[in-house]
Amino acid sequence: MREHKVEISREKCIGCGMCQRDCPAYNIVVENKKAAVKTQSCIMCGHCVAVCPKAAVSMTGFDDPPIEIDKPTVLDPIQFLESIRTRRTIRQYKDKSIDLDVIAQIIEAGRLTPSGGNAQDVSYIVLREGIERYEKIAVRFAKRLLPMVKLVSPTAKNAVIDEHFFFKKAPVAIVVVANDKINAALAASNMELMAEAHGLGVLY
Ligand SMILES: Cc1cc2nc3c(=O)[nH]c(=O)nc-3n(C[C@H](O)[C@H](O)[C@H](O)COP(=O)(O)O)c2cc1C
Ligand code: SF4
Ligand code: SF4
Repeated sequence: MREHKVEISREKCIGCGMCQRDCPAYNIVVENKKAAVKTQSCIMCGHCVAVCPKAAVSMTGFDDPPIEIDKPTVLDPIQFLESIRTRRTIRQYKDKSIDLDVIAQIIEAGRLTPSGGNAQDVSYIVLREGIERYEKIAVRFAKRLLPMVKLVSPTAKNAVIDEHFFFKKAPVAIVVVANDKINAALAASNMELMAEAHGLGVLY
């Protein structure tokens, strides 16, 4: 992984304190009207770069320069709420393949989702060609567990595990893996919205 370093230009800094107030790691100090970074082991969130009105803060180690946003992107609130209201979990799928660039965009929606402490600890495993093989293994395991689950879960009492129990003949499954399951769940939620935007159904 490439190293990122936060740098503050003393020439450009006017000592306004915006970066200090916004830093979640309390990693910036302003003394004598000049800001300075305390350590380089912060959460590397880039907020100091984003809020500085004088472009005095920069972070090394990125291929692309920071994006200038002159107008914040806004979602249409009515349309957005309507898409959340009308989404449903889909358990029956069409026999249709999904373009790789659509899958990449869905994963990008997960990758860009915020994570606690900016951990960015979420990984994605895409199952396509081998999907039946993985489902077979999972089904075998679930069948062994079912008698025990039936003892403790009333909803599992009538459950039937067939060969498509997990993926329901969906053309793609994406396994979302993270150290912190909250980060994984947040990423998956945005991924679902992106899939919906592509007209695709989703089952968690
Ligand atoms: C589950 C979760 C917990 C978070 N907890 C805090 C928090 O306690 N304090 C805080 O200042 N920021 C918190 N954040 C914000 C993250 O630090 C922030 O999302 C991350 O640094 C990336 O920055 P961004 O959201 O501006 O892209 C949290 C974010 C998530 C997703
Ligand atoms: S990158 Fe984030 S945590 Fe690090 S100094 Fe800047 S604002 Fe603070
Ligand atoms: S936000 Fe920019 S100008 Fe203001 S104190 Fe921080 S580095 Fe200096």
